[in-house]
Amino acid sequence: MYANYLNPETFKETERILKSDDVSDAMKKISEKVLMGTTLSRGEFVYLLGLKDSPDRKALFRLANAVRHDNVGETVFVKGIIEFSNYCKRDCAYCGIGASCKIKRYRMRPDEIVKVAIDSAKHGIDTIILQSGEDPFYTTDVLIDIIKKIRNHTRRPVSLSIGERTPKELELFKKAGASKYLLKQETVNSRIFKSVHGSDYEVRISLLKALVKLGYIAGGGDIIGLPGQTLGDIADDIIFMRDIGVKMAGIGPFIPTQNTPLENYPSGSADVTLNAYACTRLAIPTIFLPTTTALGTLDPGLQYKGFEAGCNVIMVNFTPDKYRQVYRIYDNKRKVEFYETVQELLKRGKKLSFSVMKSLKEEELV
Ligand code: 5AD
Repeated sequence: MYANYLNPETFKETERILKSDDVSDAMKKISEKVLMGTTLSRGEFVYLLGLKDSPDRKALFRLANAVRHDNVGETVFVKGIIEFSNYCKRDCAYCGIGASCKIKRYRMRPDEIVKVAIDSAKHGIDTIILQSGEDPFYTTDVLIDIIKKIRNHTRRPVSLSIGERTPKELELFKKAGASKYLLKQETVNSRIFKSVHGSDYEVRISLLKALVKLGYIAGGGDIIGLPGQTLGDIADDIIFMRDIGVKMAGIGPFIPTQNTPLENYPSGSADVTLNAYACTRLAIPTIFLPTTTALGTLDPGLQYKGFEAGCNVIMVNFTPDKYRQVYRIYDNKRKVEFYETVQELLKRGKKLSFSVMKSLKEEELV
């Protein structure tokens, strides 16, 4: 059959699921639909998102893993993040660097950002991510200059995670050489969005769509466990991302952060987060899907568990130490270091990209 040789692992896994006595009929039907490339319904995603440890949940993870294998292979992409400013004009209720948070603020100078990016590229990282609060200090021209310099010196893909900018700016950043942009929808439930986020829901959604239209490898994503959020909302997030055509998704649990309006609210569920990874992989088979630092903050082992649920990306931090402590979007944010991470990945038998392996060989680390 057509699907058989194009998706050998998915085929094998589906066969195994269909033969299992302890897997439910609902899960069997889902597995067949995934193999045939039929889109899953909202109800099916809600069912999968709610799975607790069970044969069905094991089947879900194995299926997501098979879909990952058949569509994006075995390589784990290691992306490097530089958090260059913690100034933010927004005031999101969950975030520790919102405008009204009384924290020490910093901005890296443009030449410092470029230098750190060039240093991080020496490790062969698969993408350089520039992240900050929404900080108008970095004007369009300043950012264009930074992007161009990094691209000229490193040739690595540059990804932006700097919040909302005008469509014109997004276009100019793309022309300057940025190829990826992460602008999480945070939640597609407009009522919840409006209650926790400091910006306009319609604008944000339209900007994310604009990124897709501009030809960016556009990233969406949500926070799992926002106040009032249901599994149905999370299913809607996944369907939304599938339908608008994002190619990356940052999905992490909510982490309560001191001195924010949501400080006393409980953390998001790690189980639901892992289920959301698996569902997102089923919904968008070729997606770049990081297992997030927020999940690792709940428990470092959990971050590696993400790879069993269909993830294929991890972000390591290259923000200079003196700034990193104050880039506190949430409390106890886990430090994800390059060497520690690649060693852990290799120990677990993961494949790394050619450029990362080459840098390790050059430094005689493998
Ligand atoms: N818990 C989890 N994720 C958070 N973010 C910000 N604050 C929190 C929090 N308290 C996420 C948002 C943002 C990304 C940079 O960090 O989703 O898009």
